[in-house]
Amino acid sequence: MTPPRVPVRRSRRRLVQLAVVALLSTFAVPVLSASPASASGPLRTHAAARGKFIGFAAATSPLANEAAYRTIAQTEFNQITAENVMKWDTTESSDNNWNFSGADQIVNFAVANNQQVHGHTLVWHSQTPGWVQGLGATAMRTAMQDHIATLVGRYANNASVVSWDVVNEVFDENGGFRSSFWYNTLGQSFIADAFRYARAADPDARLCINDYNVEGINAKSTAMYNLVQSLRAQNVPVDCVGFQGHLATQYGFPSDLQQNMQRFAALGVQVRVTELDVRIVMPRSTAKDTTQATYYSNVVNACMAVTACAGVTIWGFTDKYSWVPDTFPSEGAALLYDANYQQKPAYTAVHNALDNGTSDTQAPSTPSSLAASGITSSSVNLSWTASTDNVGVAGYDILRAPGTSGGSFAQVGTSTTASFSNTGLSANTSYRYQVRARDAAGNVSAVSNTVTVTTTGGGTGDTQAPSTPGNLAASGTTSSSTNLSWTASTDDVGVTGYDILRAPGTSGGSFAQVGTSTTASFSNTGLSANTSYRYQVRARDAAGNVSAVSNTVTVTTTGGGTGGGCSVTATVQTQWNGGYVMQPITVTNTGTSAISSWTVTFTLPPGHTLVGQWNGVITTSGQTATAKNAAYNGSLAPGASTTFGFQVARPSGDNSTASGFTCATP
Ligand code: XIL
Repeated sequence: MTPPRVPVRRSRRRLVQLAVVALLSTFAVPVLSASPASASGPLRTHAAARGKFIGFAAATSPLANEAAYRTIAQTEFNQITAENVMKWDTTESSDNNWNFSGADQIVNFAVANNQQVHGHTLVWHSQTPGWVQGLGATAMRTAMQDHIATLVGRYANNASVVSWDVVNEVFDENGGFRSSFWYNTLGQSFIADAFRYARAADPDARLCINDYNVEGINAKSTAMYNLVQSLRAQNVPVDCVGFQGHLATQYGFPSDLQQNMQRFAALGVQVRVTELDVRIVMPRSTAKDTTQATYYSNVVNACMAVTACAGVTIWGFTDKYSWVPDTFPSEGAALLYDANYQQKPAYTAVHNALDNGTSDTQAPSTPSSLAASGITSSSVNLSWTASTDNVGVAGYDILRAPGTSGGSFAQVGTSTTASFSNTGLSANTSYRYQVRARDAAGNVSAVSNTVTVTTTGGGTGDTQAPSTPGNLAASGTTSSSTNLSWTASTDDVGVTGYDILRAPGTSGGSFAQVGTSTTASFSNTGLSANTSYRYQVRARDAAGNVSAVSNTVTVTTTGGGTGGGCSVTATVQTQWNGGYVMQPITVTNTGTSAISSWTVTFTLPPGHTLVGQWNGVITTSGQTATAKNAAYNGSLAPGASTTFGFQVARPSGDNSTASGFTCATP
């Protein structure tokens, strides 16, 4: 599915823009505000930690004149592309009349700030002077060779200038060659020639082909794929494919971006996002900001997930200087910072996608007030005060040591809530417990206080069972829970607790224990919506004597709630000897209320390994794969669907694919 896209419109407005920049820069420079709490460390630190670059397109005027612009440029980014000043109309406005002032300014800034430069762009139909456009074939090829040799050659020994867009936008929207003056005069050979001239000018530079509307899999990107494959087969030095990434929230996100990157990577080229911006129809709103932020994280996540993706360049960083409002009337606000250099949700989205919890070193607070209750001859209920954490507590480890002293603590369970029931204990035996908290990044808190528990004695000669609990009743039933209460039992040596039993439906099935309680009430959670259950309770004493069961109460949960179900359908999109892509894998909320997360499990045949995934988070254990929703596609209204996909490598000659897809919430 390819969302409707409008062609990116070009205008030659550089002079106008420079005039506007000059005017704006005469006003006071806004003070750069402190980062929001969510932003720990600049973007470039997190990108570098993951082996990627995060870059921006630099405009030379604010880079020279505005401290706020410069500060962000050097602090947040480790890669720069010149927005205009390396283009032909700036560098060689008439034959052999060179102007490197802007290009040098940007390269010098990058060198000073330990940033890499991507040269943009050598051969393009736009922003190229008339004197080139009017040449005949031989003279045009010579002019191209000369331009590339001089411009690339100038920076060939500069370690900061590492890559070039050699040809830019050579395709039309249908995947044909653009009818540019280059193509019309030289035919498609100008493309291979340009790459060969660039390689000769700098054998070490990474040479890219760059275009827009090639982010998803479509006619244009497939034409690009075919061209790159054929050029490389002829030893034309194409090293890299640039996806410009001029996105707009009103046209939808190219959800197969990661898959598209992956197929180019399989050709042996590096991929990169070269000109990312996400424009909105003005004015801004909270909802549009949020959608925009999601697009930014989707792009960064896709690049992070594809090993061959070198990084992401954003086409500017502040809405104060963006080509969008001048090019797309009534659209704008496409970048990470607003016109006053304040970070927008898009900044946080890029930051968090780059960070991915890896830079979080803050452990959760220590769980406290660990206490035991409901001690029987074989079980104990533990509860504690929950921990807090900057990125959220993922769960707790429950540790136990034997006896009242000595021995060592070993983990006996985990819990995602601040309580845990430990069963299977021996009668008349002491144990010590501690808990500790973990966050998503794996940081672990200190251990809580220790609580010592001694189980009750079993079989002490008492044979008198407690009286039967009476008047079992249910109240407060929701779509996923019900509260039970009953009249307490009595016992000659004291009631130690109650077993809560449940059977499915309104009749039939059998009763199984679903919990215990030391009081005459119990809340049963995790039920399905619109479903009937029967309950009974029975009492126990310290000697293990068990009463008869109480009356039966039948409960039917309400519709809706978090119990909304889901279904999954999986499609093999493409396969080859050695691998396959499954996409779309469609998850649908089949329930009557919204769900906020989903989990799809499936089986990979032996020898199959996951090599790429998008729009979900897939983990494997043996042959079982578990796909959980990505941060942005867990919430589904009733009836709504989302998709994810993955790529698998399999042994040659094996035609099988992943199977046994089931969906569950959460
Ligand atoms: C744009 C610049 O941002 C503008 O300042 C200029 O007026 C026109 O070009 N694709 C490209 C970029 O490869 O070079 C373009 O940059 C945006 C579209």
